[in-house]
Amino acid sequence: MEIARAVWYCAAIDRSLQDRGVTLVSVQKHVRRTTVPDIAGRKGGEPIVSLTAYHAHTAQILDPYVDFLLVGDSLGMVMHGYETTVPVPLDLMIMHGGAVVRGSSQALIVVDMPFGTYEESPQVAFRNAARIMKETGCGAVKLEGGARMGETINYLTERGIPVMAHIGLTPQSVNVMGGFKTQGRERAEWAAIENDAKAVADAGAFSVVLEGMAELLAARVTKSCPIPTIGIGASAECDGQILVLEDMLGLSPKVPKFVKEFAQIGNAIEKAVKSYADDVRTRKFPAEEHTYTMREGAEKVTKKTKMTGS
Ligand code: KIV
Repeated sequence: MEIARAVWYCAAIDRSLQDRGVTLVSVQKHVRRTTVPDIAGRKGGEPIVSLTAYHAHTAQILDPYVDFLLVGDSLGMVMHGYETTVPVPLDLMIMHGGAVVRGSSQALIVVDMPFGTYEESPQVAFRNAARIMKETGCGAVKLEGGARMGETINYLTERGIPVMAHIGLTPQSVNVMGGFKTQGRERAEWAAIENDAKAVADAGAFSVVLEGMAELLAARVTKSCPIPTIGIGASAECDGQILVLEDMLGLSPKVPKFVKEFAQIGNAIEKAVKSYADDVRTRKFPAEEHTYTMREGAEKVTKKTKMTGS
């Protein structure tokens, strides 16, 4: 009854304002972000499109074209010059995560849990994942590891934190693996990885990244796993694809075999910077159109006074 009265009252105010020629514009932004169930529901359907994003402006550009954006810990290597993702701190992920959330409006935002913030226990993982969710406003977290992370994935999802899993080549384990090695090229490796996929799905992960994996194995995992598989270097057999943005834009100095460079932004930047340097050195830049003049009516300043200041 109270609600009906409030609705009637608002409608009456609205009508009265309209009668006076005032149009009400809502201050709420109507945002329909892709949700975790939207992604989970795409199993076997139209391929899921995703990219990494680390800052607000690129997030804004990518947002209309992707289903989710991953604030990957690869940002440690791509943006901060680390050799691996191992040194990436939690605060850095939170800072970039918040920027990507603010720059986007429709993609689901997933933020990586960096090395050392979730492996110790489900409780430690919850504390850090909750910080990521609260301080960035993202919709889910991602963590690396299969069967060994089952208990933690279950603990997080039961407590309101959606988890994207990540199996196959797991870069945070680079020191144990002895390098970034493609997985599943020997049949003997398949059982463990298939078991990992089943374990993370059983534990409640809503999707799983398959990284650096032989096509046949990726196809088997995708077929048997009830949650969407997101491939990176794992063939077109997966339910979706992700790439590191800088790699696919041609901005990374060296890219793995599985990357297609859809643009050559690195070359374009170099060309632009060279032109800028030439123009500055030859005083072609800034030109008249980039220069503020005195206000109209102010004393005319000659080239000589400009140069000498007197
Ligand atoms: O950190 C990252 O960018 C990732 C992708 C490679 C999936 O985890």
